[in-house]
Parts: sequence; structure tokens; C-alpha cells
Amino acid sequence: MDSILVTGNGPLSGSIPIAGAKNACLALMPATLLSDEPLTLTNAPRLSDIKTMTALLESLGGEVSRMQDGKVLALSSHDLTSSWADYEIVRKMRASNLVLGPLLARTGQAQVSLPGGCAIGSRPMDLHVEGLEALGAEIELKDGYLHAKAPGGLKGAEFQLRFASVGATENIVMAATLAKGTTVLTNAAREPEIVDLVKCLRAMGAQIEGEGTSRIEIQGVDRLNGATHQVVADRIELGTYMLAPAIAGGEVECIGGSLDLLGAFVEKLDAAGVSVEATERGVKVSRRGDRVQAVDVTTGVFPGFPTDLQAQMMALLCTAEGTSVLEETIFENRFMHAPELTRMGARIEVHGGQATVHGVERLKGAPVMATDLRASVSLILAGLAAEGETVVSRVYHLDRGYESVEQKLSACGAKIERIKE
Ligand code: UD1
Repeated sequence: MDSILVTGNGPLSGSIPIAGAKNACLALMPATLLSDEPLTLTNAPRLSDIKTMTALLESLGGEVSRMQDGKVLALSSHDLTSSWADYEIVRKMRASNLVLGPLLARTGQAQVSLPGGCAIGSRPMDLHVEGLEALGAEIELKDGYLHAKAPGGLKGAEFQLRFASVGATENIVMAATLAKGTTVLTNAAREPEIVDLVKCLRAMGAQIEGEGTSRIEIQGVDRLNGATHQVVADRIELGTYMLAPAIAGGEVECIGGSLDLLGAFVEKLDAAGVSVEATERGVKVSRRGDRVQAVDVTTGVFPGFPTDLQAQMMALLCTAEGTSVLEETIFENRFMHAPELTRMGARIEVHGGQATVHGVERLKGAPVMATDLRASVSLILAGLAAEGETVVSRVYHLDRGYESVEQKLSACGAKIERIKE
């Protein structure tokens, strides 16, 4: 298994291109299942999670052609041959569950494995199931698989989510596009990736209003057509690279991202003493002083502070002046990076969903282990500012969500390399 060697070597300078959003693309790809006409996605990120979704769609009889080195995906679900989403694929990536709604809507049935245990919490599927049942689906759990059917087709309904789940919102919206009548979804998730999905569905002929708000209304149509859609920029990749100069010093311009998608995160960076400026090409970031100041952070659903940036923010706050409290409200077990950062000299106490970080002047390089996607990149960020060498092992997590991380950071002067095994 590959690992990444980072040697802390001072301020960064340069620019980093931001790719298309992984989480948007993983919802957009299953949208192909809703139509027998081709769907083309541009600005797709080149990540192993995208390969996993490709394998899943192919296992259902779909076709996915990678063009322009994977930046363009041409998808077709003209001849679906199966509605079985196998455990061997689903267990690798929870977002595989996003085939459930579209398969059910298009073919009247779907058998989708439950994703199983996940390192950052139990992450059940109850909200997806309840929403689809409200649209008339019959769903039962057998042998670890959700067996869903809608023999007479799905019917529009009013449904309120108990929690604004991103994936459940996406599954229900996709299913409702082909349901008979109107669906009104309340307490819907408002994340930009959902807005992006709705834009694409609309280009395919779906009738949807209210995306980006907590009330989404979908008027079902008989069929959807093909479309071409550009994947929105990855706000989590953007936030991650904005933290690089905040941690290591210097100035970095992220090309292609937009601050509109990161409001609460930018406010916290500013409070910590990091300058963030929108430029014509993207976002320029630099640290104002030698050290950042402690800030308290509570994760929340959009437009709150993204849970997917919590680990990276913790890496920053490890060397802040003062004590910061980070509260995780979305996932029950998302501080596994804390003990790894502690190995690098950080002072962190975790109690339930709260981590208290006492800033130290400098971290020290150490061998550390990536436990999930965002945790792994937080360790790389910490390594940029640490004294000596940090070796981050198990980087397959990183490859799930970050394209060419070594190249992007070394282009800004970081000393970082992949050790192949
Ligand atoms: C998506 C993102 C992930 C991000 C998360 C929260 C993708 C591919 N992934 O994941 O990167 O961290 O949003 O912003 O877009 N829950 C239930 N029952 C359900 C569904 C969810 O209890 O049926 C709970 C989960 O256990 C979790 C919380 O709701 O505690 C948030 O989950 P959700 O918003 O669904 O996240 P995902 O869509 O899985």
C-alpha cells in the first residue's frame, strides 16, 4: 500500500487547480440510470471513488467511457441488465447507495446492499428508505440487502426528512423525477452538490424547484432525456488547499473554486487570522501572522461548517495560539485523526463529539496512519508545518477523494512524495 512522505519545509507559494466535486459527481453519475439517453459529465474529478461508481454502473449494464483522461465521462444506461448493487462494490463506498432511487424509478425495482460499518459512524439508510416508501415503494431488508420494488410505479407525495441527509435528499429527488404527480420534500438538505444534481436533472427534462432551500418540489415527468452537465467545483478540496498556506505560511491561489460555497468556513479562517481574498481566477489565501489564533468550530449541515473540513481545520488549530473546541454534530465518530495528530505532538482531548485542542508552537513529523479520507489529508497538511518527516500510510483513502495531491502541493514548494509499494 502506498504512503506519502511529507517534509515540513516552510512557506508555500503558487497556485493549485481545484477539480470537480467528488460528492457532486457521485450523485450525478447514478442520474444516468433515470434515462435511456446518454449523459455526459464534464469537469469530472479523477478519483478512485469515481472508478468505484463506474464499476457499479457497469455491473448494472450501464456504460461509462472516460474521455480527456477521465475529465469527461460519457454515461449510458440504454440497456440496463441488472438492478442488483452488490455488496462487494457497495462496501467500498457508501455513495453507492445513490443508485437505489434512480433504479427503482426507472425499472420498478432495486436490490442494494447496505453499505455496512463505516469508520466514521454507523451511517444508516433509514431516511432513504422512509422517503422512498412515502413515494409508494415497498422495501424490505433481506440478507443485508434492501429489496425495493414499486410495481405500479412511484407516486408523488409530501415527505419531511427527520434530518437533512444529503444522500437521502438526492435519492428521493432522483426517484421523484419519474414518479406520477408532485412530490414536496421538506427539511431537504441544501448542500451545493444537491443544487448541482438538480441543475443536471433539469437539463435532462426534470421539473424541479427549490433546490438550495429546505423545500424541494418535484413534478414527475414520463421520461428524462440525455444532457451534458459540468460538475461544480469541489468546495471540500478548495477548503483543504486553502488550509495549506494557513498551516505552512506563504500564499496560495486556488484556481477554479468559489467562496460562495464556503461561507462558515471562511468566517472561521478569518477569525483565526487567515486572509482570504476572491480573485478573478479563484481564491487567494495567506496567513496574517506567524501563528493562527484559536477558534471554536461546530460542524453543521450547509450552510454550516462542513464536517468534511473538520479534520483539516483541526490540523490548523493544533498550532494555533490558545485553545480551540471543535464540536462534531454530523457524524458520531469522526475524530480518528486526533490520536494521529497527537503522535505529531498535538495536544488534543476528545470527549464524545467534542475535541479540545490546546495549540502548540510546532508539530513534529512522525509515522501516522490515515483512517478515512479527510483524516488522511489532515495529516498531510499537518506534515507541511511539522519539523522533520511525516509518513502517512494507507493513502488509498486519500486517493478516493483527492486528485494528484503530491503534484498540487509540490507545485507550491512543498516537499512531498509518494512512496510506492
Ligand atoms: C454526504 C457526503 C459526505 C458528507 C456528508 C455530510 C457524499 C457522497 N458524501 O454523505 O462526504 O460528510 O454528506 O455532509 O455526498 N443518516 C441517518 N439515516 C440515513 C442517512 C443518514 O441517520 O438514512 C445520518 C448519518 O448517519 C449521518 C448524518 O445522517 O450521521 C449525515 O449523513 P448524510 O447527510 O446522509 O451523509 P451522506 O449523504 O452519507
